[in-house]
Amino acid sequence: MRRPLVVGNWKLNGTRVGTRQLLSEILAGLKNDTQTEVSVCVPFVFVSQVAKQLADTRLFWGSQNVADREKGAFTGEISASMLKEFGCRFAIVGHSERRNLYGESSALVAERFKMAIKNDLQPILCVGETLEEREKNDTFKVIKEQLSPVLEAVGVDSFTKAVIAYEPVWAIGTGKTASTAQAQQVHTYIRKTIADFDQSIAKKLRILYGGSVTADNATALFSMADIDGGLIGGASLKAQSFLAIINSANSVK
Ligand code: PGA
Repeated sequence: MRRPLVVGNWKLNGTRVGTRQLLSEILAGLKNDTQTEVSVCVPFVFVSQVAKQLADTRLFWGSQNVADREKGAFTGEISASMLKEFGCRFAIVGHSERRNLYGESSALVAERFKMAIKNDLQPILCVGETLEEREKNDTFKVIKEQLSPVLEAVGVDSFTKAVIAYEPVWAIGTGKTASTAQAQQVHTYIRKTIADFDQSIAKKLRILYGGSVTADNATALFSMADIDGGLIGGASLKAQSFLAIINSANSVK
């Protein structure tokens, strides 16, 4: 019922030539009958180039953030309407690197999410706890604190056009992955939090897992009932591992 989704988060990586090369390898390896929706979220400066290369292919593209404003004196920001002009389908919002390294609050993330929705760009809202928060048994509390401002700002209906990614901070880029049980438990909690507002929206909502997903652990993670695909960092930078992860989603969903 929920179409699996695998998204590459390239972060601060890539060159013009490398981007072209990586995408052509991914395109060459994508199976024709793939059921999984696939996207890459690239650095802003590559969006235009990527839009040209991926037009009329089965690969979607998106950005790694989006402005909380429409236009005006907001130096350094890129608006949702600009991204739409270049064919973006997705925009990551609230990635833990934005929250923790650049001080983005949940309230700001909610405004970014709102702008994406308003411009028909699908936000991929990232939530997740740090190791310290997990050890204090605060995981659910933290997830709720990250979701609530968005639900308040945009309402549950917006989640018909959004994706949530559960990314435990301690698992990102560390080689440590949440166990399938740990991930499933939090995914269930996220779905229930949305279901408390609207059951049918919750049922259709895609919830991705992110945090050291590799070709080796993807199948086990994607086999879990509430894990609808992945947000992939490091392993999305090599065609071979990214394609293997996409195939995992195809094989279990
Ligand atoms: P990782 O990153 O796969 O390199 O852990 C995931 C992410 O930050 O989205």
